[in-house]
Amino acid sequence: MRKAKVAIFISGSGTNMAALLYASLLDNAAYEVVLVASNKADAAGLDIAEAEGIATFVHSHMGHSREEHDAAMEAALVDAGTEYLVLAGYMRILSDEFVRRWEGRILNIHPSLLPKYKGLDTNRRAIDAGDSHGGASVHIVTPELDAGEVLAQAKVAIRTGETPASLAERVKFAEHQLYPRAVSDYVSRGYDAGYLYQRVQELALALPETHARESHGSPGFRVGTEKSGKFFAHFNDQHHGSEHIAVLVKTSGIDELMGLVETQPEVYFKPAYYGASGWVGLILNRPGVDWEHVSEWLERSWRSVAPARLTKLMNVADQF
Ligand code: GAR
Repeated sequence: MRKAKVAIFISGSGTNMAALLYASLLDNAAYEVVLVASNKADAAGLDIAEAEGIATFVHSHMGHSREEHDAAMEAALVDAGTEYLVLAGYMRILSDEFVRRWEGRILNIHPSLLPKYKGLDTNRRAIDAGDSHGGASVHIVTPELDAGEVLAQAKVAIRTGETPASLAERVKFAEHQLYPRAVSDYVSRGYDAGYLYQRVQELALALPETHARESHGSPGFRVGTEKSGKFFAHFNDQHHGSEHIAVLVKTSGIDELMGLVETQPEVYFKPAYYGASGWVGLILNRPGVDWEHVSEWLERSWRSVAPARLTKLMNVADQF
């Protein structure tokens, strides 16, 4: 089984890092830890990682701008072949540019049931508010602090007489169960044909007058009536011996297709049979798929075959 390459950033005790690391050493783990990095030389988790033979990296943030510090950390990530960055008690805010470069590939764990209690002192705030539960959330990191899509949560009951410290301790037990599971699910879904199909389907069927239709044993999407519609996308799950899970969309012809494949072979390929008539394969089973880009291609492909009465409406809509 293919294992995703995960780097972990820590600042403190690193117990979540340890939970993630030991989960990765179990049979059939979905990811391997390629690097543990910290902004603090004395982060206890570094020793644990080293003892397990994992590469470590330390770069203090003291005396450096955020951008300089992030650049050093990022160079270490790239050197380690990182595909996903997992923050585990990393108490530095990453620069917007860094987050955008790794968009969709950074996860964080936060000790509250988001969207409640972003920022610091979360357990105290939950107790003071009289909440029945505290807990932890795993979310995708976006430039806005603790605001990205929540992937998974664990609830922890607040007892009478609970202190922030006693709650924090149990929240950590919950985190240690939650985080490895959430990371495994997240890094696997990008290679899961069912998940990828569902995303393509959502985008394709959001375009006007579309329906799904099978063609040569693969699902596809057509525009127009059930009777006379035309295909604007095909979904291929490792079709004709290809290693790719992909969506095929229409280019303007073979010249454009070959140009795309030559300049960005990690994104595009020439599919068997369909390639000859200008269909290009957009590779989906890879890290960092830009779904906006997939959506733009689907729309372009749709436009190239949709009846004029529909494209006219779309052109009018574009003017607003
Ligand atoms: C964890 O409880 C984590 O949720 C929290 O720091 C702790 C790190 O513990 N993270 C944040 O507060 C992020 N805003 P650990 O170093 O033992 O894993």
